[in-house]
Formats: sequence, C-alpha cells, structure tokens
Amino acid sequence: MEKIKMILDCDTGHDDAIALMVAARHPAIELLGVTVVAGNQTLDKTLPNTLKVCQAVGIDCPVFGGMSLPLVRDQITAGSVHGESGLDGPVFPPLTRRAEPGHAVEFLIRTLLASEGDITLVPVGPLTNIAAAMRLAPQILPKIRQIVLMGGAYGLGNTTPAAEFNLFADPEAAHIVFSSGVPLVMMGLDLTNQTVCTMDIIERMEALGNRAGKLFGEIMRFTFKTQQEVNGLAAGPVHDVTCVAWLVAPELFTLREARVEIDLSHGPCYGRTVCDFVLRDGKKPNCRVGITLDRARFWDLVAETLARYE
Ligand code: RIB
Ligand code: CA
Repeated sequence: MEKIKMILDCDTGHDDAIALMVAARHPAIELLGVTVVAGNQTLDKTLPNTLKVCQAVGIDCPVFGGMSLPLVRDQITAGSVHGESGLDGPVFPPLTRRAEPGHAVEFLIRTLLASEGDITLVPVGPLTNIAAAMRLAPQILPKIRQIVLMGGAYGLGNTTPAAEFNLFADPEAAHIVFSSGVPLVMMGLDLTNQTVCTMDIIERMEALGNRAGKLFGEIMRFTFKTQQEVNGLAAGPVHDVTCVAWLVAPELFTLREARVEIDLSHGPCYGRTVCDFVLRDGKKPNCRVGITLDRARFWDLVAETLARYE
C-alpha cells in the first residue's frame, strides 16, 4: 500500500517527541523531513531537542530549523509545562546529530513544489513555518495534499480561557493557514485532552524494554509533575501524536466539518479558533475538527509503533 508522505513541523516539546517517534516508525508513513519552529521554547532549544530525540532512538530523517519568532505578536513560550530546556526530564547523551543546512521554510517550499501534490503537512506547534512558506511561495498551496494540525479548541483554551497555546503563540500565522483554502484537519484540545496518559500507559510503554519506551516514560513522568503543578491533573494529555494517529487510523476518530476563523482582535479572545459547526449564513466549511477518539485503540497504536524501535 502506498505510504502516506508527510512532513512533521514541531516545537519539541514533550508531546512533540512522541509524535516524532510514532511518525518516524509507523509502517504506513514516509516521513520526508522534520521542520522545527519556536513554540514550547525558543528555537535554540526546540531544534536541539528535536535532534536529541532523533539521536536517542535512531531517527535519521532530515531536520531543519525554521522560524524563531512569531510573525507579528510578541513571543511567548511554555516553560511552565515543558521546563527551561523545553524537554526537561529525559537525560540525553551529548548531541552529535546536526540539522540540515538551509531554512525549514525553504525545505517546505522546494519539497512541495517538486512533489506530485501528495504531501501531508503535520504542524504540531505554532503555525509560523507553514504560514511563512505560504506567503513566500503561494504556488505551494495547490501542492499541499492536506494539513493535519494540533491546535485550537471549540471549548476552553489552555493558555488563555479562549485560546490554545499553538495558535495563541502566533494567531496571525494561524489566520494565514486557516484562510488558505488548503484541506485542514484540526485536532484541538477538545479531542487531544481525551488521550489522558495515565500511569498504566506509562508503565505499558516502559515495559516495551526499548529506547523509545524508556524515553516515553521519562517524557511523561516529567509532564505528570508539571501537569499536577499547573493543572492539578493526575494525568497528562498527549496532544500532538493525535494528528499522526488520525493519518494512519482515521477510524479511531470522529470529525465534524466547521468554519473555523481565528480571532485577531487584541481582546480576551485573541488567538481563539471560532468554530462554526452550524455554518450560519451559508458559510462554507474550511476544516474538519476532531470530536471523539477511541482512547484504548489510540494507545494500542502508539504502543505497537514504539515497539518497532530497537
Ligand atoms: O496546546 C498544546 C500544544 O502546545 C502542543 O502542541 C504542545 O506541544 C504545545 O506546543
Ligand atoms: Ca507541540
């Protein structure tokens, strides 16, 4: 069966690391490259974090550094959740893996233009790289098969009451992507919070007895701590890998069409995904929004994929 060609765009980040490990080893995916953006932490941290994960578990696809600042707004990061390094918790050996020369946005543009229009973009951080590529080379738009992104919410946000972190970190970039006309799937917090990684899941992954399972445990045991400190939760949501899981097992999810617009007003709803499922006044949908997830089969998929590592 033809593999799904995808590029992961991430701000590694604990849950980004899990998405990366699954995308790199799932048999149905051809991971063409990884582009890194500032988000959970500044780019000088998210890029080496991504390289550390690749080196730790043996992922050899090309990694490119991208945009280091949001397009317009002041930069925010998420050190309270991901720690000072952006990937606190795991201890990695000295980093020898290097990023590819050249900018992530240029990699996105040249790869898409050279393609048959069969590449899926999976951004799981702020949308700065994707938006920059769209503005620099609008001719890539018809070449993007679809974008499956982690971000937004039709319920409460996690960074403000209205906005989810990835979109709040660069609302203007999100507006460019959501108004691009490219087919979109949005895995927002209402969906990703259903993953609920409890201790039995951590122990299941650690029992795999390989580097990926060990890294999963180190990652999630750290976020357990910050989740309890920040949200009083006894379990951590794992957001980003839901995008990769949907790509390979859409039957585990239900989606619903919506018109999703980004609030760019500088009030309390700045960066909110305004999700109109009713499609009032004849509005056309621009996105399919994740509604439900089969949690048990989702974690089976993650475990089966991580088991493929040495
Ligand atoms: O709001 C959750 C998102 O913000 C996830 O992508 C997490 O990695 C952080 O980037
Ligand atoms: Ca992320």
